[in-house]
Amino acid sequence: MDAVTKTHNGAGSKHSESESMYLAESSDDGGPIEILFAVREEVGALARALRVFEEKGLNLRHIESRPCRHAPDQWEFYASVSGERPGALDALLLELRSQSAGSVLQLSRNKRKDAVPWFPRTIGDLDRFANQILSYGAELDSDHPGFTDPVYRARRKEFADIAFNYRHGQEIPRVTYTKTEVATWGKVFCELKKLYPTHACREHNHVFPLLEQHCGYSENNVPQLEEVSRFLLGRTGFQLRPAAGLLSARDFLASLAFRVFQCTQYIRHASSPMHSPEPDCCHELLGHVPMLADSTFAQFSQNIGLASLGASDEDIEKLATLYWFTVEFGLCKQEGHVKAYGAGLLSSFGELEFALSGEPEYRAFEAEAAALQPYQDQTYQPVYFVSDSLEDAKDKLRQYAQGVRRPVALRFDPVTRSVHALDSTRSLRTAVDALQEQVSVLSCALSRMA
Ligand SMILES: [Fe+2]
Repeated sequence: MDAVTKTHNGAGSKHSESESMYLAESSDDGGPIEILFAVREEVGALARALRVFEEKGLNLRHIESRPCRHAPDQWEFYASVSGERPGALDALLLELRSQSAGSVLQLSRNKRKDAVPWFPRTIGDLDRFANQILSYGAELDSDHPGFTDPVYRARRKEFADIAFNYRHGQEIPRVTYTKTEVATWGKVFCELKKLYPTHACREHNHVFPLLEQHCGYSENNVPQLEEVSRFLLGRTGFQLRPAAGLLSARDFLASLAFRVFQCTQYIRHASSPMHSPEPDCCHELLGHVPMLADSTFAQFSQNIGLASLGASDEDIEKLATLYWFTVEFGLCKQEGHVKAYGAGLLSSFGELEFALSGEPEYRAFEAEAAALQPYQDQTYQPVYFVSDSLEDAKDKLRQYAQGVRRPVALRFDPVTRSVHALDSTRSLRTAVDALQEQVSVLSCALSRMA
């Protein structure tokens, strides 16, 4: 398989048991917190890790160990902790990650069945979960092309550390890519660029030259996330945020609600330029970014995110699947032809050709059907959903989102970049006032034209 990628930062991935537990995090109620961390099998390693719990004022209530599945030289520990000191948990995770050879995950707090899942209210709230990731840095599966390459693993940890230390409002640190990394990017860039004129949708083809002109997109240069993020901000209000690892579907989708795209900064292993088992910056920059610079697609993406806020685990699963068949693998009709708008296709030379070959099954896009369609991420999709247009996809998603059961109606305020509950006459009045302002401006403009 020469597909570039089949994964996309967690959204759409089937939930493992631990992820489901992780999704259950609710308000700060002082209950136990579950953590998973790994240490090398060497004398004193566990003692050093446990000392951190004491230093940070966290009580260790329960601990279990097992051999690490992915790394035979490591042991994995499940710990349940509690504590009152503000910031202690973040400090603990930070310190454990600096010591650990593998991942450090916060799994969950205790789940109440009737609890509404916590969700961010402001763009700054994304800092609260950005580091609650399902894998970190140098931890790679044994079948990953870079698994046995210590240089690549060390490099991956560098990128993960950049993202881990990032906070909303900061500039994304610039990276000097190595010759090897630039060469890998260049191969992917050149192969895909040949296909875009015939296979990519009109929106992608419109934006791509602008990225070459303004953001340093070229065969010999890997664009910097900060520059690309500024470009997006100016076009659609979207911005990039460096991702430290794989996020849960809930957290990834919640970021979209605030027009934030969680973006990897590392590059796939040089031995496999045409395939990556996980999203990398070739996938993000070539597949996602051009589409996020289109206003209709940006609204579509944000609408999926807004629908996810406070939704049940079941609805998150459906929205993530919907994301998979649209944002990642969506097709649309343009001038009598079928074109690709999904990032999983636009960043995959092999699957982009396959998807438009007439060989797979095509179905007219219906959000309800796409949300329930089983999918797999190991090979090309056997089924693609084709929209009449991006507008058509957006309208159908909007109707679908209205049916997602949530505790309260929410409104996004683009000025403060926050969401507000529409649950009182006062909140509704505020929303109506904002709307009236816009209607007044439009009415005035119409009068002038008349
Ligand atoms: Fe993706």
